[in-house]
Amino acid sequence: MEIKQVGVLGAGLMGHGIAQVVAQAGYDVVLREADQGALDKGVGKIERQLARAVEKGRAEQADADAVRARIAPTLDYGDLAGCDLVIEAITEDLGLKLEMWREVDAVAAPEALFATNTSSLSVIDQAASTSRPDRFFGLHFFNPAQVMKLVEVVRGITTTDQTFDAGLEFTKSLGKMGIPTRDKAGFIVNRLLVPYMLDAIRAYEEGVGSIEEIDAAMKAGAGHPMGPLLLADFVGLDTLGAICDVLFDEFRERRFARPPTLRKMLAAGWYGRKSGMGFYDYSGDEPVGNPAV
Ligand code: CAA
Repeated sequence: MEIKQVGVLGAGLMGHGIAQVVAQAGYDVVLREADQGALDKGVGKIERQLARAVEKGRAEQADADAVRARIAPTLDYGDLAGCDLVIEAITEDLGLKLEMWREVDAVAAPEALFATNTSSLSVIDQAASTSRPDRFFGLHFFNPAQVMKLVEVVRGITTTDQTFDAGLEFTKSLGKMGIPTRDKAGFIVNRLLVPYMLDAIRAYEEGVGSIEEIDAAMKAGAGHPMGPLLLADFVGLDTLGAICDVLFDEFRERRFARPPTLRKMLAAGWYGRKSGMGFYDYSGDEPVGNPAV
């Protein structure tokens, strides 16, 4: 089936970036959020990224305008009726995702494909709640979606070859690298990256180094673009907490357990960069290590 119109559910950290990438590839996008404030914020971020691309000479103004014009923001599930593919990128909470799929399933065309951008939840748990488990798969983008090359394309146990191939083909059409993977908690990247970030928190708890020292060491010593504690803030500590809970529940291994520091920071409402406070304080021009952690 030809994909022309794509629905993106959620205009947050991942959803706005996915919507932009998909529109840039020439698809019409319906971007759905639950409330107007979050929708405006997500669309505002896309507009800023497009303006920056023009400023930097990476895009013509007319092309940026055309990308923006292909994105139709909405609060109404009904506007997803014409979509050939719907990608969800809402909060990493199975209950909320199932509630949302119930709404989408009721309005989407029977032949439309559904994909989840979950970072760790099982694809089958969502697929089974819809009328189309055969046309359901995972499309896991990385933050920032506009920049990161990888998309994990996840085959659930009910995903047909036709659906999976359509997912790989769609990923390629976005100019991304699609890596096929199976429906195992954390897929490839988070299975390896999440214990690494959690270990960095434990290393900090054990006094191996300061926040800045641990990050600087991994940048200069291992060639990473960001240190693990800045990366944890960047991913969102709430998201990191949700992912490690899923992984711990699945595998029952200590390496996936929440370190006490993470638990306390979440209780304090410190979710990382998006909340302005995490392992770093983002209130100034440059992030500085949070002395209260
Ligand atoms: N949105 C869109 N574009 C962005 C961006 C964002 N949030 N952040 C940076 N960019 C773009 C910038 O516009 C810039 O492009 P131009 O120079 O052409 O304008 C380019 O990326 C480089 O940005 P910067 O010069 O500001 O900074 P940088 O060189 O340090 O790169 C980075 C920033 C790309 C984020 C880099 O630090 C990086 O790769 N960090 C690691 C990111 C990572 O590991 N992501 C995966 C997280 S795990 C995940 O997402 C999975 C999950 O399920 C939790």
